[in-house]
Amino acid sequence: MACLWKIFLLNIFIVCGRSKALSGNFWHITDLHWDPSYGVGNENSASICESSGERPTPNAGKFGDYLCDSSWTLINSSMHAMKHILPDPDFIVWTGDDTPHVPDERLGEDSVLRIIGNLTHIIKSLFPHTKVYSALGNHDYHPKSQMPPEQNNIYEQTANLWQDWLNPASRETFKKGGYYTEQLLNQTGLRVVVLNTNLYYDQNKLTENIKDPADQFGWADQILRDAAKNNEKVYLIGHVPPGFFEKKRDKPWFREEFNKRYIDLIQRHHAVILGQFFGHHHTDSFRMFYSSNGSPISAMFLTPGVTPWKTTLPGVLDGANNPGIRVFEYDTKTLLVKDMVTYYLNLTYTNIAHPRWEKEYRLTEEFLVPDASPASMHQVIERISGDKCYLQKYYQFNSVNYDLTDCNSDCRIDHVCSIREVDFKGYEHCVLKEGVAATGPIPLTLLLSLVTGLLYIA
Ligand SMILES: *[C@@H]1O[C@H](CO)[C@@H](O)[C@H](O)[C@H]1NC(C)=O
Ligand SMILES: *[C@@H]1O[C@H](CO)[C@@H](O)[C@H](O)[C@H]1NC(C)=O
Ligand SMILES: *[C@@H]1O[C@H](CO)[C@@H](O)[C@H](O)[C@H]1NC(C)=O
Ligand SMILES: *[C@@H]1O[C@H](CO)[C@@H](O)[C@H](O)[C@H]1NC(C)=O
Ligand SMILES: [Zn+2]
Ligand SMILES: [Zn+2]
Repeated sequence: MACLWKIFLLNIFIVCGRSKALSGNFWHITDLHWDPSYGVGNENSASICESSGERPTPNAGKFGDYLCDSSWTLINSSMHAMKHILPDPDFIVWTGDDTPHVPDERLGEDSVLRIIGNLTHIIKSLFPHTKVYSALGNHDYHPKSQMPPEQNNIYEQTANLWQDWLNPASRETFKKGGYYTEQLLNQTGLRVVVLNTNLYYDQNKLTENIKDPADQFGWADQILRDAAKNNEKVYLIGHVPPGFFEKKRDKPWFREEFNKRYIDLIQRHHAVILGQFFGHHHTDSFRMFYSSNGSPISAMFLTPGVTPWKTTLPGVLDGANNPGIRVFEYDTKTLLVKDMVTYYLNLTYTNIAHPRWEKEYRLTEEFLVPDASPASMHQVIERISGDKCYLQKYYQFNSVNYDLTDCNSDCRIDHVCSIREVDFKGYEHCVLKEGVAATGPIPLTLLLSLVTGLLYIA
């Protein structure tokens, strides 16, 4: 009850204050993970797909199953939903992971390239005149996650598949390291940097003892320094994010040295970086970056996946999600991220009735902030951390309305600390601090929200 009233009152201000001037929008899609085996010849086996890893799927439907990666029907449905909801975005951000979660022996280099090709083709056929900024995911290589810090056949073939989306100079750096930069839509003062952060993934054995794999950090540092000199504003795009997974305690993705260097890059260049757009989690979350004196300097948006696949990562309880896709609204001159709207498919409903893509939520409406700037996203994490209503709301969005159970105090710590602290030491400290607070006397914030709750009811 308390939540509803607060939202109603504050919304009046926010909706009135929203300005549509200089507003542009773009799609962000990620983790499509097409499973070509879905349904094909599996009708009589316990599982309808290979990506379930032999977990039985008795109720699997045409559109998909929570234990499986995406069926082609689901891929097609999500692409058509994009075309229907926002047919003419300024551009599309696509952050990788195209292939199914199956053992390497079931895929091979040719299959990986074919799958990347099929997904590239459907995006191109529906958005033939739209620029796509596309990053490689750790599943877009064979063997998976083993992205080399140098030229190889997959980078080359992918550069060819994405030829229409890459300027000539981008093709060259992409072939060498899987990364590139260009002016955003060829506009002076605006820039996109697409990173290959798979080079920093701790599963990648090829980059383990390399200080700066593919010289990407050095390159990005120079690009961002030049951007500052030229008064440019920049969006950073990538797949594997730094920091920790919010659904499992103490689970980082980057090697520690790479994690440090990434944070260092953001702290040095935050003035030109207006947003970071990543995937890999399949969940809906975000990450905060702070200056050494604690002010919010950058936000990284983690967009949910199209695949509903329930993760097999040990320690994650019910890690599936509904398929999600997201529109960002931004200021076309300053690149300020103004808002984001997430759309989703209730897979259960879709399989028993018909495909229904619906709006899940709009950030500014649900979290009562004026935009998605670092300062506003800092307010969002403060609300999530201090108010049970916001925590629960955030938690349901995290799995795209799949897991509607309560986020308990351990769950709160996992989510709050992974959002706030991308740094290894900072995260560790946060977990300790929040743990003590949770078991100590009633925290002040809880008391305050109880009192304000009573006021609103009265
Ligand atoms: C793709 O989706 C569209 C829109 O829902 C539908 O008309 C078409 O038949 C689908 N194609 C396939 C191959 O599923
Ligand atoms: C995927 O691409 C291959 C060619 O590389 C083509 O033969 C096949 O029909 C495509 N599959 C789909 C579902 O589009
Ligand atoms: C940007 O300019 C290049 C080179 O002139 C051109 O090939 C490309 O189509 C342009 N891209 C966009 C998105 O306008
Ligand atoms: C999804 O659909 C199922 C079946 O209609 C329904 O029981 C469930 O409440 C729906 N979930 C949400 C979040 O609306
Ligand atoms: Zn993925
Ligand atoms: Zn991934």
